[in-house]
Amino acid sequence: MKKISLLISFLILLGSCQNSKKQIDTNEGSNSIIEHKVDSLLSIMTLREKIGQMNQYNGSWDVTGPPNDSTSINKLKHLEQGLVGSMLNVKGVKNVRAVQKIAVEKSRLGIPLIIGFDVIHGYKTISPIPLAEAASWDLQAIQKSAEVAAKEAAASGINWTFAPMVDISRDARWGRVMEGAGEDPFLGSKIAFARVKGFQGEDLSSVTTIAACAKHFAAYGYPEAGKDYNTVSVGLPTLHNTILPPFKATVDADVKTFMNAFNDLNGVPATGNSFLQRTILKNDWNFKGFVVSDWGSIMELQNHGYAKNNKHAGELAINAGSDMDMESYAYINHLEELVKEGKVDEALIDDAVRRILTIKYELGLFDNPYKYCSLEREQQIVGSKEINDAVLDMAKKSIVLLKNESINNQKLLPLKKEGQKIAVIGALANDNDSMLGNWRIGADNNTAITVLEGLNQYKNNKITYAKGADVALGKTFFYYDTKINNTDKSGFKEAIKIAKNADVIVMVLGEHGFQSGEGRSRTNLDIPGVQLDLLKEVYKVNKKIILVLTNGRPLTINWSDKHIPAIVEVWQLGTQAGNAIAQVLYGDYNPSGKLPMTFPRNVGQIPIYYSYKKTGRPTPLPDPNMVFWSKYTDVKSSPLYPFGYGLSYTSFSYKNLKLNTSNIPINGKIKVSVDVSNTGEFDGEEVVQLYIQDVIGSLTRPIKELKGFEKIYLKIGETKTVHFTINAELLQFYTANNKWEVESGDFNLWIGGNSNAPLMASFKVTE
Ligand code: NOJ
Repeated sequence: MKKISLLISFLILLGSCQNSKKQIDTNEGSNSIIEHKVDSLLSIMTLREKIGQMNQYNGSWDVTGPPNDSTSINKLKHLEQGLVGSMLNVKGVKNVRAVQKIAVEKSRLGIPLIIGFDVIHGYKTISPIPLAEAASWDLQAIQKSAEVAAKEAAASGINWTFAPMVDISRDARWGRVMEGAGEDPFLGSKIAFARVKGFQGEDLSSVTTIAACAKHFAAYGYPEAGKDYNTVSVGLPTLHNTILPPFKATVDADVKTFMNAFNDLNGVPATGNSFLQRTILKNDWNFKGFVVSDWGSIMELQNHGYAKNNKHAGELAINAGSDMDMESYAYINHLEELVKEGKVDEALIDDAVRRILTIKYELGLFDNPYKYCSLEREQQIVGSKEINDAVLDMAKKSIVLLKNESINNQKLLPLKKEGQKIAVIGALANDNDSMLGNWRIGADNNTAITVLEGLNQYKNNKITYAKGADVALGKTFFYYDTKINNTDKSGFKEAIKIAKNADVIVMVLGEHGFQSGEGRSRTNLDIPGVQLDLLKEVYKVNKKIILVLTNGRPLTINWSDKHIPAIVEVWQLGTQAGNAIAQVLYGDYNPSGKLPMTFPRNVGQIPIYYSYKKTGRPTPLPDPNMVFWSKYTDVKSSPLYPFGYGLSYTSFSYKNLKLNTSNIPINGKIKVSVDVSNTGEFDGEEVVQLYIQDVIGSLTRPIKELKGFEKIYLKIGETKTVHFTINAELLQFYTANNKWEVESGDFNLWIGGNSNAPLMASFKVTE
């Protein structure tokens, strides 16, 4: 054993020495030193050991998919034999150190494990769900949120997160929209980039950064009928123009890994899809990292009716470019044989292992496999003030004010700080778990600050509380809780009683944190259970209601929008939820969020998104009674709240839209400016949004597309000029020639505070 370690060290040393002759100490140099070390190591590995690097095991009893049937496998033995490259779901310095010790000290070559975990929105200190963070449109804050999540996770032994999830989705029925950045590829790409930078930082070998993973490649957010894991059919233009850009953005941000997906795409399951993984990702985009399968997605190739058995599944997956097998046991059980039978070229195995080892080197795991395993650092960092401050900041910025109308000439928001009798109603107002949202497996349950606790910090008002009604099903990660009686109205009486005497009512209603997320597709997006009935009953006795909506996706809230004077979308804001919500309701932070996803009027409108195509029979109708036109007969075509929408306690006006030219060549640039003023009575932030329409294309084009945004802060009465530069990168699209090009012709642009911005200008692009 010792002899072998010495041999590796010698080979590696030899490699780096030879290399250092050629390279000076530049990045390129250190990359090629790593390349050399990887090659040296690879040269002494047996085929079985190489395959071991491509094998990932779950480390706890918890699973995030069906447990596989290969229970006969002794994971411990495999660790000792160097047949495991990575573990997931091992957390905490003590546990990570223990498992790493087996790999490093017991196996022949002592190759360290890479330790993966779903750090989706925070590790133990939970930040807002990613959809909520996207609503901030604040890239710096989003990057910071990923940065502190990485720092906390790394302090607990983790060095690889399965995030960011960058699946664009336009279907709120799909429960996993909570994990993404919403419906738009431009916003989604910017956020994807920021998140990767946040997780990985400038130096991957630092003990505060971890490797990121762009997932789920690809088109997982487009399941038919919004049903999780369902089949996906989309054409090349949608794939390239809408679905792939955020993935490409992560490659531009130097993301280290990708995860493939459960779905099939046009008949080929993503995990066995060579067009996605080899042609696009590894070839066209020149991605140098590795691709991990999703949980059991290799063995699921059998369920898709694509592979005959698990061995065949392994063959299809590796040939298609999946480098690491998460819990399918296909590689460890069958790859060796497949190579011997000539069905898999060993060069593909070498390529996969090279990619995996490279990242282990980049993380610095070969220098010190225990570098993430300091008990002292874990104690100092996990749950620290620095991390809580960052998640609180992110939480405030994620809140979207949907409505704030006056009753008797007075707006309900912000709340007065003194002399008010406030009735707080709703189970979710007093729930310290739900606000953590789904995918927070590193957090302790019941650790969110509740809305009630947050509001109670403002001592000069009198608060009374009644639960009123429970939320509906689904209170744990793995199982729906069928015991919750979601038809029970016995609590209504007490709620109505406290509402009657209140100056203002804060009703916290919505989905429980486990009602959205993986496996939580819904066909009904109304506020669940009897909560809406409760709202209606309370409204009968007192109309001064602020509805605080907490949910993991857009809900259908027509009745509330029509009747309730103030509505605040708070999503699921994580550990600091109650503090953030109280600060916004009291006006200590002026809400600035904008919807990253369209809110439909009803489920029948889904998929609904702002950048739709005009069709041959576009709106507005030439005659409102026209029958044969693209519209619904029972509901307006427009959404309840459009993409990019969100109010502030102040108001903004947009004037003087200027273009420095209205005619540019294909590679030209236009400078655009607009004056934005704070015309209201509070200081506040506004997200200035730029939309562009390519009027005629070689393929039909969306009615408009987001192509720029800037979040600005304006004091009362202040005006700022905001500048954008439009260039070829913003004007190009995946054309009928199957490539990214700018097409000459007419373009329109709009600037404003949401996707219905009225301020418009036009320009031409000429050959
Ligand atoms: C399945 C999910 O689809 C994926 O996003 C996650 O990272 C893995 N399970 C691992 O937990």
